[in-house]
Amino acid sequence: MSEGLRHLRGKLLKQIQTTEPGSVAAGPYLFVFERASERGETVTHVAFALRLVSCPAERDWDRRRDESERRGLALQTDFINSLFCPDPERTLAVRYLSTPQVGAVGAGRVDVVLLAKQRAVSAEGARQEGMVLFREIRALLAGSMPDHEWQVATDETEFRRLWEPFPWTTAHVAEIRRREDRVRLETLRPRPCLGRGRPREDVQDAAEGVYLVHPFVPRFSSLGRVLRMLLMHPHPVLWQVSLTPVWLSLLEEEALEGEIAKCEAYLREAGATPSPSFPSQTVLHRRALAMVHALVGQLVRLQDAPFLLRMSLASPEPLPRTLLEALGVEATGPVSGSLEHLGGGYDVLFASDSESARQARDSASWLEPAAWGGSLAPAGLERVRSLVDAVESAGVFSLPVATGDGLPGIDVRAARSRHLPREVAALSQGPDAGTHLLLGSNPYLGLPQPVRLADRDRRHHTYLVGQTGTGKTTLLKQMALADMAAGRGLAVIDPHGDLFEDLLGSIPEHRREDVVVVDPTDIEFPIGLNVLECSDDDSRYAMAREMRGVMERLMGDQYQHQAAEYTGPVFYQHMQMNMLLAMSDPDDPGTLLEFYQIFQSKDYWKRWLPLRWGDAKLNRWVKLLEGTDYTRRGSDNAATMGEYLSTKFEDFVFDPRLRLIFGQKRSSVDIRALMNDGKILLVNLAKGKLTEANARFLGMVLMAMIQSAAMARVHLPIEKRRPFYLYVDEFQSVATENFILMLSEARKFGLGLVLANQFLSQIKDSRITQSIFGNVGTLIAFRVSTADAEMLEPQFAPYFDRHDLTNLSNWSACVKTQVSGQVVTPFSLRTRGPDVGPEAAVFEAVKARSRKRYGRPRADVEAEIEEGLLGLRERKERATTQPEPETTDKLKLALDEIMGRDDRA
Ligand SMILES: Nc1ncnc2c1ncn2[C@@H]1O[C@H](COP(=O)(O)OP(=O)(O)OP(=O)(O)O)[C@@H](O)[C@H]1O
Ligand SMILES: [Mg+2]
Repeated sequence: MSEGLRHLRGKLLKQIQTTEPGSVAAGPYLFVFERASERGETVTHVAFALRLVSCPAERDWDRRRDESERRGLALQTDFINSLFCPDPERTLAVRYLSTPQVGAVGAGRVDVVLLAKQRAVSAEGARQEGMVLFREIRALLAGSMPDHEWQVATDETEFRRLWEPFPWTTAHVAEIRRREDRVRLETLRPRPCLGRGRPREDVQDAAEGVYLVHPFVPRFSSLGRVLRMLLMHPHPVLWQVSLTPVWLSLLEEEALEGEIAKCEAYLREAGATPSPSFPSQTVLHRRALAMVHALVGQLVRLQDAPFLLRMSLASPEPLPRTLLEALGVEATGPVSGSLEHLGGGYDVLFASDSESARQARDSASWLEPAAWGGSLAPAGLERVRSLVDAVESAGVFSLPVATGDGLPGIDVRAARSRHLPREVAALSQGPDAGTHLLLGSNPYLGLPQPVRLADRDRRHHTYLVGQTGTGKTTLLKQMALADMAAGRGLAVIDPHGDLFEDLLGSIPEHRREDVVVVDPTDIEFPIGLNVLECSDDDSRYAMAREMRGVMERLMGDQYQHQAAEYTGPVFYQHMQMNMLLAMSDPDDPGTLLEFYQIFQSKDYWKRWLPLRWGDAKLNRWVKLLEGTDYTRRGSDNAATMGEYLSTKFEDFVFDPRLRLIFGQKRSSVDIRALMNDGKILLVNLAKGKLTEANARFLGMVLMAMIQSAAMARVHLPIEKRRPFYLYVDEFQSVATENFILMLSEARKFGLGLVLANQFLSQIKDSRITQSIFGNVGTLIAFRVSTADAEMLEPQFAPYFDRHDLTNLSNWSACVKTQVSGQVVTPFSLRTRGPDVGPEAAVFEAVKARSRKRYGRPRADVEAEIEEGLLGLRERKERATTQPEPETTDKLKLALDEIMGRDDRA
């Protein structure tokens, strides 16, 4: 229970377990209080609080200032009018709560809070009434201010912070009220126009004159100024404006009519015609007329939809007067100098004794009417000073909109938000919502709505782009974890290693057996990947083409426009044909290391003779090799042809980590089976350990293997092509030319790509960019650079423009997607914050399992490599001397010891 709330002679009874369907922020949001009333009976209140997450910035403010001001005031007036309902038990308050930052003058945070409170008949009734009120307010906010983003307080601590930001018992409270007057019709008594220093002696004359309350003259608030002043105060300050819908009572109507009658009587008695020889008489006459107008206007307006308005300021420390004056000035213009228009002005009220101070605090903290501070009002008109219509209150009961002036302390979004298209909303909240992947929420319409993507639409690929720190990897991780949880197959290629580690430590329990880890840093138990292990013609040629793509990309990056000089058509011919040769024996496939050896050792290539597989092209090639000597050195001791050709592969072949992976004859991971069985492949390309180029080489080779495995699904009937997702963070570093094919073809084979990178302009090959726009079904654009925004704008036009794309806040994105293959209107997305972090125990256990299943002891691998590289003659000799049984079994046993015995099964 909340101690802090108890002093208010009320206590927090309970937090009602209520959830709003379809809201991401669903949770208990209604708080019920019991409180003893002034008369001693117990009153139940139900309340909820919405905290503003961000507000929109007014675009083109400086150019269209007048129009924007008018529109802003009109919007606020409409909003307040819509709040009206014949239920005086309700109160709605806007709070601006400043929390200055210690040690930084004028800096800090300003929380904008919408508090709603209702007196309920009973604790039981509170739930129903609270929910009704919540839905009404939510609909109102969504309808009138869809770009304001709110968060509903669903935990008690947060609610309490907003409800009682500092102890009310000792708070200093002041109020700003409309200016009231007792006007003696027969004299002119000029008064100061503003609140400061108003003489209060006229309270004694209360019985005399006509009671007049100067209506607030709404002006467009320069909220920036107020916020700056609030933040300059070194202590928290709460500025609160509350509205309670009420009815004007018959008594009040009559009392107002009585005041009008006084003026009319004066006008009649003082002579109907003003005398030109008595100018003061003329002024008095005009003033009386103006008062009739003002009072009649007030009466008419208040008969319509009146609210009780209360504006207070509170702080744990004494309140600065200037701040109060500044807020008064915000509320209204100065008292009009024109006699035709008796509006403007305000009074500042401080509690003068401890009892009124208590009442002031009570009134502000409970959002209840205040009976303190004294008044000039005659009987029956006590409330009139606080009674306003929507127009009058629009200047102060306002939600922030950032103008050119800025809004210190408040999160402002310069990018527009757009609502969820009907199709996505239906999918995200429909009966099967749980089966679709949760991307995040849509902030439009105030409270977040879930955003989901259906599996079938994800097969059209997803592309995430955004500057550093915008949340791409976090989203990738959440998507991958959701896929894992849902039992889907996926591969994740991570160039940094963080995503890899996060995922590996977060694998859901039921998927831990399915994980295959490719981690080149694990040199004691390397897994094997032999790209040249191909069993059919199609895949041989496909792989040779893929490898050419890999080399073209790497050479292109290394030598830029000189790449063609180093790697011309001859290079690629030798490379591809020798790879085909190394692939020709399915029972004894060559490895990349052996392929490299072709260029180093004279007759090494003959180990594939006689050809187990060969087509006309390969047969011709073999004949050509008969007359080729890669090792022959020219007269001037220049590089051999083999050296010229093979130096390009040296980095990969000699890297101690890659060597252990690519040197194995048999891939310990069968990518095709992995895809068909819906397994999880996690690849760590942590650049810290591998060189940049080698990490990319490994990444590209894996992409090539996945692509080739996907294409091989052509032989499977469509319904058997189990969906598989390939996640590639920073994908531009591993995208080869063949990637274009992948983007356009993969979908047919059940392979959905999820790609992320920072800049479109990072992708040097414009064909890849075009292919992304042409093939990607879901485009998620976080904040991007100006250059990228220009490229992306046509994808989102006319719903978002480059201004939106360059001004998105972190973790927000513009999304264009499809539902059932149909493109839908772009909308805004807010991603979810990071979930619980990875667990070291899970990380170790899953890694150990994968190691055991797919890794091989390093010594075995090295022995195999050494044997594979033997020349033809040594091979023959070995064959006759029957080598000792491999040490593999011994090492495997040792490994079992390390992993623990129960893992052995
Ligand atoms: N929705 C979110 N709410 C709160 N914090 C988030 C959210 N999304 C991401 N973050 C945090 O923001 C930081 C940056 O996120 P992330 O690493 O995903 O960005 P990125 O776009 O991948 O950046 P980079 O391009 O540098 O890799 C991280 O600390 C992450 O925890
Ligand atoms: Mg990242």
